[in-house]
Amino acid sequence: MKILVTGGTGYIGSHTVVELQKKGFDVIIVDALFNSRINTLDGIEKITGIRPEFESFDLADQRLTDDFFARHNDIKGIIHFAAHKAVGESVEQPIKYYRNNLDSLMNILESMQKYNVPNLVFSSSCTVYGQPDAEHLPVSENAPIKKAESPYGNTKQIAEEIISETIAAFKGLNAIALRYFNPVGAHDSAIIGELPLGVPNNLMPYITQTGYGIRECLKVYGSDYPTPDGTAIRDYIHIMDLAKAHVIAVERMLNEKMKKPFEIFNLGTGTGYSVLEVIKSFEKVSGLKLNYEIVGRRAGDIEKVWADPTFSNNELGWKAERTLDEMTASAWKWEQAYRSL
Ligand code: UD1
Repeated sequence: MKILVTGGTGYIGSHTVVELQKKGFDVIIVDALFNSRINTLDGIEKITGIRPEFESFDLADQRLTDDFFARHNDIKGIIHFAAHKAVGESVEQPIKYYRNNLDSLMNILESMQKYNVPNLVFSSSCTVYGQPDAEHLPVSENAPIKKAESPYGNTKQIAEEIISETIAAFKGLNAIALRYFNPVGAHDSAIIGELPLGVPNNLMPYITQTGYGIRECLKVYGSDYPTPDGTAIRDYIHIMDLAKAHVIAVERMLNEKMKKPFEIFNLGTGTGYSVLEVIKSFEKVSGLKLNYEIVGRRAGDIEKVWADPTFSNNELGWKAERTLDEMTASAWKWEQAYRSL
């Protein structure tokens, strides 16, 4: 059973490929390597003993995408990760985000119709909820979609609409959108993990790089949020818990267990932690004192969000299992392993 994983050398993609291969799926990766490295394939092979098929091209190119599907008529499902994801950059270069994130999706949906590939798992994000009102916290899949805070967030909202409308118009196509909360951590082997190019935007890699001495000081954005310690709250989820959910979603589609042709699931733990709590957890598991300073809020940040994972737990039979300490320990193990290569 062959699965196409777009963005399969990226952070979430590579961990999902490992889980798919462990479950016996054949994987073909398409990745333009805009924000990932080719040697991730070596890491995947080292862990699973199998080197996935790989092609490098831009899925936003319609001709190349069509040509790819014409050459591969044995693909049974697609997990579409390939996308730009830096919130700040999307504000500076909106067209880059709309073009890449939406063109690639539309090319894939067109090819699915033309070449009879019925199943799509789409990488969505909790960003579609914006800042949920108090009565919608924890946030469930039925919470209202708020106006996106950034072009990046808007691409996820629009993508879900494009998928929904395409599925409604073409019988036989199925899709599952997975709305991730904040994925962190690495594979237990520490052979693959998160590899941000340049200065990290996200909290966890910034913490581990500061711990390792690559960054001098972590800036904590804002201590005046209406939260118990004043710092912003997120639902951090271990990358391996997230990867497993993708395999379950693919199996659900292939085994025709879907209740309707387009389903949406939250992928979070259900527990929110503040930035200071994440730092404390890092200090505990690493035994280090982290150098950090409190600065002003970061533009576009929301104050607090965490998932209601009840629907995913019940419908997918999936539950995020790993604790915050396991997440920080895993991210730290990966940072050290990667730097000592
Ligand atoms: C954001 C997006 C999310 C997207 C993800 C991808 C929103 C609301 N969320 O997540 O959809 O998938 O990026 O990269 O747009 N922080 C610091 N110092 C730092 C870095 C972060 O204090 O150096 C704080 C942030 O202010 C925030 C928390 O840590 O409160 C998490 O930030 P981050 O890891 O960047 O993720 P999000 O902004 O939640």
